[in-house]
Amino acid sequence: MNKLLRFDGRVAVVTGAGGGLGRCYALLLASRGASVVVNDLGGDPHGSAPGSTRLADNVVQEIRNQGGSAVSNYDSVEDGEKIVQTAIDSFGRLDILINNAGILRDRSFLKMATPDWDMVHRVHLRGSYLVTKAAWPHMRKQNYGRILMVASTSGIYGNFGQSNYSAAKMGVFGLGNTLSLEGAKYGINCNTIAPTAISRMTEGLLPTAVEKDLKPEFVAPFAAYLCHESCQETGKLFEVASGWAGRVRWEKSAGAGLKKGDEIPSIEDVRDNWAKITDFTNSVHHTNSAEATSFAIEKSRGTDDAKLSINYGSASTSSSPFAGIDIQKIFSRTVTVKPFQYTDRDSILYALGVGAKVSDPAQLKFLYEGHSDFCTLPTFAVLPSMEGMLPMVQEVMKDVDIHYANLLHGEQYLELYKPLPTSGTLTTEIKIAEILDKRTGAVIVANATTYNEAKERLCFSQIITFLKGAGRFGGESKAKFIKPPMSPPRRAPDVVVEEKTSLDQAAIYRLSGDYNPLHIDADFAAVGGFAQPILHGLSTFGHSVRHVMEKFTNYDPSKVKCIKGRFSRPVLPGHTLRTEMWKADNRVFFQTSVVETGDVSITGGYVDIESGGEEPQVAPSPSVQTSELSSDVIFEAIGNRVRSNPSVARQLSAVYFWKITKDGNVVREWTVDLKASPPALKRGTPDGKPDITLTISDGDFVDLVSGKLNGQKAFFEGQLKIQGNVMLAQKMDVLTKDLPKL
Ligand code: NAI
Repeated sequence: MNKLLRFDGRVAVVTGAGGGLGRCYALLLASRGASVVVNDLGGDPHGSAPGSTRLADNVVQEIRNQGGSAVSNYDSVEDGEKIVQTAIDSFGRLDILINNAGILRDRSFLKMATPDWDMVHRVHLRGSYLVTKAAWPHMRKQNYGRILMVASTSGIYGNFGQSNYSAAKMGVFGLGNTLSLEGAKYGINCNTIAPTAISRMTEGLLPTAVEKDLKPEFVAPFAAYLCHESCQETGKLFEVASGWAGRVRWEKSAGAGLKKGDEIPSIEDVRDNWAKITDFTNSVHHTNSAEATSFAIEKSRGTDDAKLSINYGSASTSSSPFAGIDIQKIFSRTVTVKPFQYTDRDSILYALGVGAKVSDPAQLKFLYEGHSDFCTLPTFAVLPSMEGMLPMVQEVMKDVDIHYANLLHGEQYLELYKPLPTSGTLTTEIKIAEILDKRTGAVIVANATTYNEAKERLCFSQIITFLKGAGRFGGESKAKFIKPPMSPPRRAPDVVVEEKTSLDQAAIYRLSGDYNPLHIDADFAAVGGFAQPILHGLSTFGHSVRHVMEKFTNYDPSKVKCIKGRFSRPVLPGHTLRTEMWKADNRVFFQTSVVETGDVSITGGYVDIESGGEEPQVAPSPSVQTSELSSDVIFEAIGNRVRSNPSVARQLSAVYFWKITKDGNVVREWTVDLKASPPALKRGTPDGKPDITLTISDGDFVDLVSGKLNGQKAFFEGQLKIQGNVMLAQKMDVLTKDLPKL
């Protein structure tokens, strides 16, 4: 504990460090090894007099006299770039920024002149913004930074004659709060202090009797600690004065729900609830906007009293929202969620969201309302229950204090009784089946049954969510009603489909109703610790089941009876999904992973198909002798065509080179030289550079030529690799169309 906290190798910028508090910060950091840029414009306390280099230079001299390292900078904080550049030019990096520069232009509000308002804002708020803005890319790039904002008790509590200054200082605090969130992922911490100290700025404002208590040196160690690499605090506000420091946080009364049902409250409702609105007996201290908003929504639904007794009044030592709750009461409630109305367009949009493509003619029926077999993918069945999920949790768990940011979708199960219509109005009833105590969290099992307009049961859906941090409430840990995930057989998969997702996949899927910004907003995703917005788990789920349908049901939705999957790792849009499948009787086990990272994103998955499902469309057996390839005979036919029909050669005038593979190895090479005279087919490589090189497996080549495999689909799914002039691939029909029967 006695180890000195040092800043060796760190570079700090302290703005307004030519005197007062800033000078003390600079001296202390330098005395502990930091290299410091001492910034100060050198003007008067009101920002009126012209600048001078003296203030900054004096402090730099003091630091150097003590053996420290420092340079001066005389720019205004409004020239943030130049200040940061001084750090980079002098020391090569920037680790610490203290936004300390400040001026005062006190006037009562009546006399406040707009230039006085603006000038104070320009130095405090705009200046802090501009220097931080310049520092941010350096800190982000090095994944490290410590930023200190300087606010004031005048902002926190207000101060007569300081409307301009109070407003600017609270602006600085708000800026710091958001930067702490945006910087978290990059090791950038940002805190705010409201110091009090004697300085030229406070001349005449603080009583002389307390001068010795309020030396700026008393504040500096606290500021320095927040700037040390060992301090992990971020997004907090502290008051510091006289060798004392304390944290300041927001306190909110439990408040009052003002509306009855969905009615807009009246002004009188506000008046009549005033005592409750302002009663701090059961106050709360929220630490983020999401908590604050979900609290307001929960309270407005009239659930306040029960919850407060759990959180604040209960003798229970557990912080789980289920502690002290009669869970049986929750199980007895059924909620019928708002009818789910959808049209053909929604069915199509969903299919696009799970990667269905018009390039595969077999999938067109999911994408075109004019198709004779137009139908809805079976995984669409997740939508009616998911849409009702949040309102349901709020209603069924009205006496439980749930923070929705902590809810994770863990598993999904579907049972399909009838094919889903392509449009209609569905109703869904949801019930909580069980709540399990898993210590690190609670597992909430919700069962949903969806009916069509004729009240016929269409599907059953089981949604398993994990509520982080809600365990240890003394509940059951063993599941009774969960449809469990199933491990695949212990053998190599029978069949595998790889499919590259689109970069816009999440942007499309969200239009089916899950508008969580995590899937579209990079900054929001960064707060959750993701490098970019992630794909919806249910989109990956839909892709995987589509792969199973491709291989085992010939895309017939009526053959899909049950589906299960557990979400394990996120997928990024643009990544390639690899669905491995094993067939055992009527069950197709599947597991989905990301080719680029190897991460497994869905585990324990299975699709139960109606008996009579297709046998897997696996590639021809590897035991086929490579000396006799199925494609050989096609190439011979191509050779005959080009030799006997010179117009083919004239039309294409190119050198085609094919590499035919088996089990991933190139086993045959063919060149069709249409530039030669006469045009020629030969086994082996071309003499010069080919215009196009096509790599494809023997079986896929046969399928391609016979029309079973779509060329574009094969290309996009990696079965067909093309180098060179891609247009020539599209013209290949001229060589392969209507070849004599093999
Ligand atoms: P100070 O007046 O001694 O220091 C402020 C420094 O900022 C001065 O050296 C000044 O030349 C410099 N400066 C002003 N405008 C600048 C600009 N545009 N660019 C670069 N430098 C500029 O005042 P003090 O008391 O040390 O204040 C430091 C910070 O602490 C200020 O942000 C102030 O608002 C804040 N603060 C101070 C309190 C106190 O009790 N002293 C109370 C609450 C907040």
